[in-house]
Amino acid sequence: MSVIVTLLGSPQSPSRTEAVLSHVVRRLSAAGHEIRPLVLRDLPAGPLLAADVSDPEIAAAVDLVSAADAVVIASPVYKAAYSGLLKVFLDLLPQFALRGKDVLPLVTGGSPAHVLAVDYALRPVLASMGPAHIGPGWFVSSSHVSLYPDGGTHIDAVAAGPLHEVVDAFLHVLGNEPRRIPAPIVTTPGELTVKRVRVEDPETAPLLADLAIEYGTRYHAVDSGAELARFPASDFEDPNGAFLLLLDGEETVAGGAIRRYDDHTAEVKRVWTSPRHRRRGLARRVMEVLEDKARELGYSRIYLTTGPRQPEASGLYLNSGYTPLYDTTVDPETIGHLPFVKDLGAVGSVPTDLSTLTAGQVHPERAPRVKVAV
Ligand SMILES: Cc1cc2nc3c(=O)[nH]c(=O)nc-3n(C[C@H](O)[C@H](O)[C@H](O)COP(=O)(O)O)c2cc1C
Repeated sequence: MSVIVTLLGSPQSPSRTEAVLSHVVRRLSAAGHEIRPLVLRDLPAGPLLAADVSDPEIAAAVDLVSAADAVVIASPVYKAAYSGLLKVFLDLLPQFALRGKDVLPLVTGGSPAHVLAVDYALRPVLASMGPAHIGPGWFVSSSHVSLYPDGGTHIDAVAAGPLHEVVDAFLHVLGNEPRRIPAPIVTTPGELTVKRVRVEDPETAPLLADLAIEYGTRYHAVDSGAELARFPASDFEDPNGAFLLLLDGEETVAGGAIRRYDDHTAEVKRVWTSPRHRRRGLARRVMEVLEDKARELGYSRIYLTTGPRQPEASGLYLNSGYTPLYDTTVDPETIGHLPFVKDLGAVGSVPTDLSTLTAGQVHPERAPRVKVAV
């Protein structure tokens, strides 16, 4: 276990840089490291600008860095470099304040023209401070980061995949995780293994851990594990349900589960694709195997909900024959949980309340029970 200090160099709040940093921090924490955050904009401005290291708050911040095994430094790109706020703090640190430490630099920026700011501006300054290792830093375009009024954040798949690779490499340097060898690109989903598991099986761990992070960051949930613990594990086992994973070799790359909603209807939960394997059509494959399993268990209909901040999930369901039970022209944030239904067309008639519902016609009293996203 390493003690990791995070330096947040954005003067803004809310901050896209902070959102990226918090995604990274959740992964480092989940790997067992202790995180000590340092939000530079919260330091007293006068002593900070005067490099007054006798100020108690400045001195405490310097000590925090000194005591760390590793440092994650996150800054917005300002004027083709990193922020002045970060610079004034780095300037008041001792010359070799990073000696022996592992460092991960991250930046967010508005222009792809400045993706190299992390390497040509930030990295040389950090290198001059004597670190043991500076990880391959990463630039996240601010257009890939969404901020919500309640503090929720989302990094879209284009940026999240490479960011996770960078964090994995940093974890490897910290010594507690094997370096991931990128899986060979499997273009035919049929080459993947479908494995039926129980919730507590070790192969589900990547799925559950990543969903907890996704729920936590997108919906600003303090206890993101609560949603995952909401249903007993037996819901996803015979005779009423199933938990299915797609394995690429030994690696869990995607998965999902079904449980009994009513006698005729299976409810889909926990649909997930590994951040390293997005944009390969794996979620669609998960839906196909879940639908097959639902038919096998005797269901004639599938019901599910997703959250308003999961446009990729809504898009998947809309493109996979699911009928939205809400008005798709309305801002999803004003609706909340978004229900969908699909007739499996195999087992016969569907005498459930849901059978009478069509898009945009959910009567409030008959609206299905809805929960945080699958
Ligand atoms: C004063 C200022 C200067 C900026 N200069 C650049 C720049 O040179 N290149 C760039 O890519 N983005 C630039 N940006 C955009 C920010 O880097 C980008 O919006 C970043 O994600 C903001 O992070 P924050 O929300 O954490 O402050 C600038 C923004 C501001 C406010």
